[in-house]
Amino acid sequence: MDERHVNPMPPAPPGMSSSSNHGSAASPGRRTVPEVVASKGVRRLVMVTAVDEPSARWCDRAGVDLILVGDSLAMAALGRPDTLSVSLPEMIHHTRAVVAGAGRALVVADMPFGSYQVSVGEAVRSACRLLAQGGAQAVKLEGHRPQEVAAIAAAGIPVVAHLGLTPQSLHRLGGYRVQAREAKAALALVRHARELEEAGAFLLVLEAVPAEVARAATVAVGIPTIGIGAGPHCDGQVLVFADLLGLSDDPVPRFVRRYESLGQRITEAVAAFASDVRSGAYPAPAESYPTPDGLAEVLARWTEEP
Ligand code: KIV
Repeated sequence: MDERHVNPMPPAPPGMSSSSNHGSAASPGRRTVPEVVASKGVRRLVMVTAVDEPSARWCDRAGVDLILVGDSLAMAALGRPDTLSVSLPEMIHHTRAVVAGAGRALVVADMPFGSYQVSVGEAVRSACRLLAQGGAQAVKLEGHRPQEVAAIAAAGIPVVAHLGLTPQSLHRLGGYRVQAREAKAALALVRHARELEEAGAFLLVLEAVPAEVARAATVAVGIPTIGIGAGPHCDGQVLVFADLLGLSDDPVPRFVRRYESLGQRITEAVAAFASDVRSGAYPAPAESYPTPDGLAEVLARWTEEP
């Protein structure tokens, strides 16, 4: 693969701050689907997950291309053991919050378990709700589902496909395991990637597959691939916000790189606050509202009266 670099996003038009265009799918300055598709072979794409307005706002300011409202928020934000219990209304709720914080990144909402598996019609309805009620600009669904992808794309909704380790199939897969390690499965993955592109997907997430399998799929398709645990040959990379920043507990998968230890820093900051409260060091006079002249005397007389 040719050497590429991550370009910063173009500056917002004059007079528009990153917070002045929140919430609109067609906002000027926002990354668009055609731009994302055109980036293949030109520059690497950066995607992060976010779960709420602050996490989206801070990521957006970092200039990421795409923000994924991943159903991994089940573990990252809701304290659940896996992604299976996240509902469509919950995904819509979090998507609305993320969209409120994302002025420039393209927001992709995960379709949760049960929202697209029953029928193609149900898949289209669920995708419509993530755009109409959640404000997302695109949806992502797991697995080799060309019919669902085609129907959602035909409704005018940009679709991201997701192959390799698909966490909603956790029980069928027998756990969170690296996928496509044998030739047959690797060739099937590359074929599925092509079929999903033909069905209308504009982006493909590859999760937990050997680097050479991801390379083969990336070469085989004309749409960008985004890797997570899929090696360096994808057209972009995604990490989960909580993993990247050290908000999730160890152990984490081997592909996670911690860029911060925010969990530790939060604990230290809150412990310092607790210590100041207990010692009386907080609040200081500068952190208190001054008492108007004469008011202290009035209060003193009142409290002295029987
Ligand atoms: O839900 C999620 O965070 C995801 C990423 C792992 C791509 O689907």
